[in-house]
Formats: sequence, structure tokens, C-alpha cells
Amino acid sequence: MTPVKIGILGLGTVGCGTINVLARNGTEIARRAGRDIQVVAAAARDIQRERECDCSQIRLTTDPAEVVNDPEVEVVVELMGGTDLALSLVLAAIDAGKHVVTANKALIALHGNGIFERAQEKGVMVAFEAAVAGGIPIIKAIREGLAGNQIEWLAGIINGTGNFILSEMRDKGRDFEDVLAEAQALGYAEADPTFDVEGIDAAHKLAILASIAFGIPLQFDRVAVEGISDITREDVGFAAELGYRIKHLGIARRTPKGYELRVHPTLIPERRLIANVDGVMNAVLVHADAVGPTLYYGAGAGAEATASAVVADLVDVVRALTTDPENRVPHLAFQPDALSDKPV
Ligand code: NDP
Ligand code: HSE
Repeated sequence: MTPVKIGILGLGTVGCGTINVLARNGTEIARRAGRDIQVVAAAARDIQRERECDCSQIRLTTDPAEVVNDPEVEVVVELMGGTDLALSLVLAAIDAGKHVVTANKALIALHGNGIFERAQEKGVMVAFEAAVAGGIPIIKAIREGLAGNQIEWLAGIINGTGNFILSEMRDKGRDFEDVLAEAQALGYAEADPTFDVEGIDAAHKLAILASIAFGIPLQFDRVAVEGISDITREDVGFAAELGYRIKHLGIARRTPKGYELRVHPTLIPERRLIANVDGVMNAVLVHADAVGPTLYYGAGAGAEATASAVVADLVDVVRALTTDPENRVPHLAFQPDALSDKPV
């Protein structure tokens, strides 16, 4: 079968992470998707710069519209960030009948309602697992794994940069600005890091989680937002003396009066699991009526952790493109010889 050909907008932290994961795990990914996935085109602002990934077999351009309009590209993967150009490119891809995968939470939180409506009209998929909590498959967990439940509330650490800053301030007594600079160097932070430290990024993600958990439209404007920029080393130290950790939480709750959506720093007793989620890790606790509480934990940012979620979406899209029942992937995607493997 011919490979599914994809185009990537953005060759930064997540774009290169995605190319590297696709290259390294291509055989397994193809087995799960039912077809090979080939990156044929990509866009970046500077295409001369050396990258963290091998782009030698990819057509490079500085014009992302060229990738979207490339007749060979069947799936557009938007990993540029921002909301203006990204919105017009995603809508152009949808209008051209191309499926879209994006990690862009700002785009989904602010423009998702319109994007999904357009995608529905055109019969294409828009997948965005990487937009919330990096590599944790939280969208699929809530939408599919908890499909039989009414979700009562959810709360989580959903910004890796902020959690990294608070953890390093507490454990190593480091300065806020110094840790933020490290988070930027590691590729965790947003292009504009005030999104991370002022709670805006967490609010984008909370709006998305609430929409999926409660089946409501995206309502970023209704999130009450407070960040961590006013928290000092002394605050973190005093909290520790009293047996607490300061964590930045996103909380979404169904109440008799409507939905409560808020992100803010919170004092959590240190015996609680979520108080011990440190560094770039994220965790989301979901309370649902049938299953009760479930907790999801993993890397909330970074190249390959986020690429893991992007590729998972690509696998979903490629499966959906495969209309021939003979070529549908078996549920467990066994390797043909898996059953003959000796136990280890
Ligand atoms: P980067 O800044 O590392 O990469 C952005 C890429 O987009 C760069 O390659 C840049 O080109 C390219 N680009 C930006 N604007 C243009 C333009 N106008 N034309 C052509 N190319 C352009 O961002 P990230 O990889 O960190 O993030 C990408 C998206 O993923 C964002 O939406 C972010 O919120 C989201 N995300 C990021 C995570 C992370 O851990 N970093 C985790 C989860 C989601 P050039 O390199 O030449 O400047
Ligand atoms: N800047 C974001 C964070 C990236 O630190 O959580 C992952 O969404």
C-alpha cells in the first residue's frame, strides 16, 4: 500500500520531535496505522538552519501555505503555534478536504468551535491530543475511555513549564527567572512564556478539557485565570514548612449553577499524590460517576513526549482514511509472529 503523505507546518521542538519519532518507530507505527506515514513537505521560517531532525528527504519551504496546497499532502500537521496564520492555514487545509493534526491549544481554545464546525461540513478530522498535557493521552482517555460516565469534575497540573519552575524553586532554591530560562532552552515554554507563567496556557487547556468532559462548547473567556508570576521562593518555602506544596491547578467542575472553570496556584497537602508531581510532569485527576476517580500522569511538554501524542493522532487519522476493511488494523495490532515469540 502507498504511504500516507503528510506535511508539517513548523520544524521546532514538536515538529522535529514528530519527525524523529516517525523515523525511529516507523515500522511499529505503520503496523498500528495500517499504512506507512511519510513526511513529504515541511515549513519553517528559516530553512537553512540546522535542525534537530533529518529533513534531507523532505521538501522544505518558508511558505506554510505551499505545504497546505501541496497536492501530494493528505494530512496537514500544524506545529507552528500562534492563532492568526495558524487559523487561516488550518481552515485552508480543511477546505481542501485535508485532515489536520495540531498541538496548538491556543488555536483550539480560541477558534475550535468554528474549526470543528467547518471540519464537520467538509467531512475531515481535526485531531488535537497534543494540545493538552503533552504526552498524556488525556483527550482520548476522557472522550473514549470515560465515554460511559458523567464527569463531575477534573483538576490537574496542566502546564509543564510552571510546574518545573515551582519544583525547582522548592527543591533547589532557584530563582524564578533562572528556571524559566532553562524551561525555554529545553523547549518546554511557549513562544511567549507569559502564556505559561500567567496561566493563559493552562486556561487554554482547561477550556479544551471542559469542552470534552462536559460536552459543552469551548469557552476560554469563562476561565478565571491566575498564574504563578507572583509566587516567590519564600512562599514556596513557607508552604513546605507547613506541610504543603504550591501547585498551579486547572479545575473544571459541574455545579448546579453551571460550569466552574478556573486556573490558579493552590496549596496542596504534601501527602496527596498530585502534590508530588514535579518538574515538567503533568497530572490530571478526573472524577466520574461510574468509575470514580482516575488519575493520568506523564510528561506535560518536550519534543518527543508531545510528538507521542501527535503521532497517536496521525495513527487515528490514517486508520480513518483506510476504507478497505481488509486493511483495517486488528484491535491489538499483533505482529504476525507475535504469538510464536517465546516468553521472556
Ligand atoms: P517552536 O517555536 O519550537 O517551533 C515553531 C516552528 O514553527 C519553528 O520551526 C518555526 O520556524 C515555525 N514557524 C513559526 N512561524 C512560522 C511562519 N510564519 N512560517 C513558517 N514557519 C513558521 O514551537 P514548539 O514546537 O514548541 O510548539 C509548536 C506548537 O506546539 C505550539 O502551538 C505549542 O503551543 C504546541 N505545544 C508545544 C509543546 C512543547 O513542549 N514545546 C507541547 C505541546 C504543545 P523557525 O524554526 O525557522 O523559527
Ligand atoms: N508550554 C507548555 C507547557 C507546553 O509548558 O506545558 C505544553 O503544552
